[in-house]
Amino acid sequence: MQIFEFDTIVIGSGLAGLTAAYHSSSFGKVAVVTKSELDISNSYYAQGGIAAVMTSDDSPALHIKDTLTAGRGLCDLDAVEVLVNEGIERVNEIIGMGMKFDMQKGKYLLGMEGGHSKRRILHAGGDATGKVLTSFFLEKVKEKPSIYPFEYLSVVKLLKNNDRITGIMAIDLRTGSNIIFKAKAVILATGGLSRLFARSTNPDTATGDGIALAYEAGAEIADIEFIQFHPSALYIPGTDAYLISEAVRGEGAWLLDHNGNRFMKEIHPLAELAPRDIVAYSIFKQIRESGKDYIYLSLKHLDPEKIKNRFYNIYIHLKELGLDMTKDLLPVSPAAHYMVGGIRTNLDAETNIKGLFICGEAASTGVMGANRLASNSLLECLVFGKRASEKAAQLTCANCDTGILNPVKINSENESTFLTFQNETATIMSKYLGIVRNKSGIEKALANFREVIEKYRHEKDDYYLMKIFHSATICSLIANAALKREESRGGHIRSDFPEEDPGFQVHIIQQKNKEIQFEPVRK
Ligand code: SIN
Repeated sequence: MQIFEFDTIVIGSGLAGLTAAYHSSSFGKVAVVTKSELDISNSYYAQGGIAAVMTSDDSPALHIKDTLTAGRGLCDLDAVEVLVNEGIERVNEIIGMGMKFDMQKGKYLLGMEGGHSKRRILHAGGDATGKVLTSFFLEKVKEKPSIYPFEYLSVVKLLKNNDRITGIMAIDLRTGSNIIFKAKAVILATGGLSRLFARSTNPDTATGDGIALAYEAGAEIADIEFIQFHPSALYIPGTDAYLISEAVRGEGAWLLDHNGNRFMKEIHPLAELAPRDIVAYSIFKQIRESGKDYIYLSLKHLDPEKIKNRFYNIYIHLKELGLDMTKDLLPVSPAAHYMVGGIRTNLDAETNIKGLFICGEAASTGVMGANRLASNSLLECLVFGKRASEKAAQLTCANCDTGILNPVKINSENESTFLTFQNETATIMSKYLGIVRNKSGIEKALANFREVIEKYRHEKDDYYLMKIFHSATICSLIANAALKREESRGGHIRSDFPEEDPGFQVHIIQQKNKEIQFEPVRK
């Protein structure tokens, strides 16, 4: 097997991975490993923007309050304070580096999204913030001679020696060859898992691989039952659940039922801009009661020119599908969008395993609680990506041996088995672990996942069979936590426990070969 040695390995090339790589390059040689191409990531597709306090009528205290309110009592206060306060520094830092956010007459154009009490969403290219921001960072990363990108490498194992991470083993998806990367620190920024559900706003790559790798290595997984469903994904059978940014509602778009009523007005004082969990659940109920698969988003009452300019990419995409967003009612329904929990870290993005750091959607830093405040995620990437790189740089590794490893092979005959499993799993996840869950449904799903885990637990050398094992493991982690949390809170709603229970103001922590733990929130 080929062996490379680096100071830091970053897995993933979304905003968190690129931020971590950029800052790590000041301290040594960095490998950026991604299973597709460098510019394919969930961050790339972010339409809304990045939340930060940028005006004198706003304040960190207000941003913290909004984050805590959206998080439904499950945010760790110290982590939220770091996010908001350092977030301002990080945003100003990237502006100083040359990042251009949308401006008018010398002032930032700030957007509005659900749960925010002030306009504080910086955006770029109108509705193309993720694309502009990740492209900006990609250029910065490419300028750094100490950063080495590796594309089409899928990580199959996190390597450990003496209870610390010493590197990774990856398989080249084009040639099938196995490669070992040794390093003092691994920063995992592999994103979320929303593609485990049948309807998702995420790219195909968002399958939670990093969660499975970290769990197998002994990392703690926190609050993974909380899945954020984006309220307004386009609903056209046979097409993808295309995201129609919440920023569209921030500019005044309405959600209408099949009788043309603005139903959100009766549900929450912020109406269409209520926190995302409330809007998604309200749409779910409308859909169930109407017997239709969607409700409508309407912008017909808004200035068409303004809408076209502000949301140019969405406008064009919908036009290609035969819809004029300034005139037509847009059919929408919720779709899996964001993994709120993840691999547990401290404030330095460090896990319970020495040498393993997590940032971005893959991490559970404590800032998201039970429901992420819109547009806080890109901010989290900047803040904790930098923190991870700085802490990782302090590590030494006296014996970074990776030991003898069995190679993993790609047996293409097993690909169809994997794809069939993936489709069946997506149906089960959406049916039993979607917006609303209950005990008997979760137990059915869990029984299925346990059977798959049992069947494939020894298949560690076959790429596709190992992927089945990993996916079933992640799904069972979601189901285990969803079963234990006998209450409704944020992105976890139980029809058999419809109320929020103050006794459940705890994080649910899972670790391989250990009983589930409950840990108090840091207030
Ligand atoms: C959106 O544009 O609605 C998505 C933004 C986010 O998920 O934070």
